[in-house]
Amino acid sequence: MMDAPVLRVAAITKSYHLQTSLASRLSRNENGHTSLRALDGVDLQLNKGEILALVGESGSGKSTLAKILVGGTTPTSGELEYHGEPMPAHRDKDASRRIQMVFQDPYSSLNPRISVGAMLKELLLLHKIVPRGEVRAESVRLLNLVGLEEDALQAYPSQFSGGQRQRIAIARALAVRPDILIADEPVSALDVSVQATILDLFASLQRELGLSILFVAHNLAVVQHLSQRVAVMYLGRIVEVAETSELFSNPRHPYTRALIDSIPRMTAESVNEEFVLEGEPPSPFNVPAGCRFNPRCPYAKDVCRATDPGLEPVAAGHQSACIRAAELPDHSIALSISATRKATA
Ligand SMILES: Nc1ncnc2c1ncn2[C@@H]1O[C@H](COP(=O)(O)OP(=O)(O)OP(=O)(O)O)[C@@H](O)[C@H]1O
Ligand SMILES: [Mg+2]
Repeated sequence: MMDAPVLRVAAITKSYHLQTSLASRLSRNENGHTSLRALDGVDLQLNKGEILALVGESGSGKSTLAKILVGGTTPTSGELEYHGEPMPAHRDKDASRRIQMVFQDPYSSLNPRISVGAMLKELLLLHKIVPRGEVRAESVRLLNLVGLEEDALQAYPSQFSGGQRQRIAIARALAVRPDILIADEPVSALDVSVQATILDLFASLQRELGLSILFVAHNLAVVQHLSQRVAVMYLGRIVEVAETSELFSNPRHPYTRALIDSIPRMTAESVNEEFVLEGEPPSPFNVPAGCRFNPRCPYAKDVCRATDPGLEPVAAGHQSACIRAAELPDHSIALSISATRKATA
């Protein structure tokens, strides 16, 4: 029998209630809505030992879902399971330890006044990972694991480059021996040349430690060669999920197609820019009736404005929330991110 997923969420919602003045200022349509649904019925599972990519535009709810998974915020409704058991609303120290987060900006997530060695020591002792006499050796082991040398122990965050700081943030997450890493856009703030080295680090951590990793990214190109599966998020929902090669060769949601088509446009200068999509950018204050993607969808028909579709199987291990998934024309992608990298190097 297959292992239960290490994490599973079902029908997760998260609403934010805003004060009217703030709400009307933020709302694109000035329609007076005072609450927004950052997550609107999310179903997703993270399998043991896999890297699952979570991809979608700004505001689609990726960080909100990431925060719910690490226990940083509670969902408005829905279920969260850890190894097949309901996750308690108040996690004990051990449950919190096992799911660690890595953030986009390592500089603001590291305390500038504490040396790397002191930071690791505090964590190792607090969580009783090793006896006091083994703290130094364990700290060096952690640094080596993320590709840093022993001399980093004496240094402070400001003395490192962006990529090295992200390695330190990863070492800190690993110090407490988690089995799950939630990485929220961990390479988005880094130079393109450095991004690849950090992606390689995540791949080696998966291989060597058997970690299960949820890797959040803005664009598909970043995760094409890293993740085993991809979940595509749009306006608070997962709209497509599949194994990575299947998703790229046989995308069954028009939004995924738009994300794939945006890859060739990326250059060294614009890799972090929003991809180009027709129509209004989405606002969670004003979710379109029917399929939430329909106003921007080149394939939309009347049925798409009338029916709000759920995720349905379209192939083995592949689900799409497009009513017309089976009718979409074939879509092929010739360009891979490695070709993009070579062309812009
Ligand atoms: N604390 C909060 N209060 C009110 N609204 C919030 C809060 N946090 C997030 N939101 C809203 O919820 C929606 C989803 O935000 P979230 O940060 O999860 O998106 P994201 O996909 O991570 O975006 P990005 O790519 O920009 O990081 C957005 O509309 C955002 O404005
Ligand atoms: Mg985010």
